[in-house]
Amino acid sequence: MIKVTIDNILIEVDEGTTILNAARKIGGKVVPPAMCYYSKLKGSGGKCRTCLVKVSHSSTKDPRPMPKLVASCSTPVQDGMVVENLTSPEVIDARKGIVEFLLLNHPLDCPVCDQAGECDLQDLSFGFGMEETATEEQRREFPMTDIGDKIKLHMNRCILCYRCVYVADQLTDQRLHGILYRGDVSEIGTFIQNAITNDFSGNVIDVCPVGALTDKTFRFKSRVWFLKPMNVHRECSKCSGKVTAWMFGNEIYRITGRKDQYGELEEYICNECRFEKKALTDWVIEGPRHIKRQSVISANHYERMKMQSIIKPIEGLMESQE
Ligand code: SF4
Ligand code: FES
Repeated sequence: MIKVTIDNILIEVDEGTTILNAARKIGGKVVPPAMCYYSKLKGSGGKCRTCLVKVSHSSTKDPRPMPKLVASCSTPVQDGMVVENLTSPEVIDARKGIVEFLLLNHPLDCPVCDQAGECDLQDLSFGFGMEETATEEQRREFPMTDIGDKIKLHMNRCILCYRCVYVADQLTDQRLHGILYRGDVSEIGTFIQNAITNDFSGNVIDVCPVGALTDKTFRFKSRVWFLKPMNVHRECSKCSGKVTAWMFGNEIYRITGRKDQYGELEEYICNECRFEKKALTDWVIEGPRHIKRQSVISANHYERMKMQSIIKPIEGLMESQE
């Protein structure tokens, strides 16, 4: 085991653990934000620099000069390492710079974006963004694209985190999209407008940290904070069938995978569960889902209501449908 101190908290972790994962073991505000790292995707991380922290002391074995800022998602801890996250003004400054950099091209269209309320960049801007932009250059603009009949690509919003590419690579048989070109003209594309049609392609929507990939069956139907997330499940031959149903009254507006406190999926779900099963009778309702991440969608207090007051009207409706 290796000893590391993060924001004055000492913790022991296994050798090879990254600073970010060591911080996640402590939890709470010590955890740096992450826009491209995804614990369930091999090779993710190291693209966005959102997770920068200051290593103020490395280890006696490491002769590199310290302190310096490093990407916590891809830097392994060393014995005796001292890391500063929120306790370092330099880290806060760097994070402000990263937000500004990410927003150089990202449009400020939260009022009309389906990801609003559960967008990592929105949360990051709220925490570290400036009120005004220092630049007057035009943002990049791309036409909106349909990637198949269920997924909309809004390239203007993409931060090139590569998560969706890794999902396609690691979860599906054949990757049909990727990052085309280099530098500031890079874009997510299928080249010849291929549809991404395999059974697990919908997961690219859930892993996208911004609103670049959205669910066409839900687009513009409601703001997420008006919906009640419920844990529901069904027998499914392709995935575990355990999902979150986002409901308005007794209607299911959208289905997503279940996400943890870092906004990462607990399990990937299939397209049939995600896109085809929107009737209440398709699902067994378990109860309200507790949203662990800090976001506007976790602000509702309906969880305190008695389960009966939620389930009873739904049961009544299901009986009348039979
Ligand atoms: S579309 Fe979303 S998931 Fe894919 S690279 Fe862009 S921001 Fe990342
Ligand atoms: S989360 Fe570490 S570089 Fe993106």
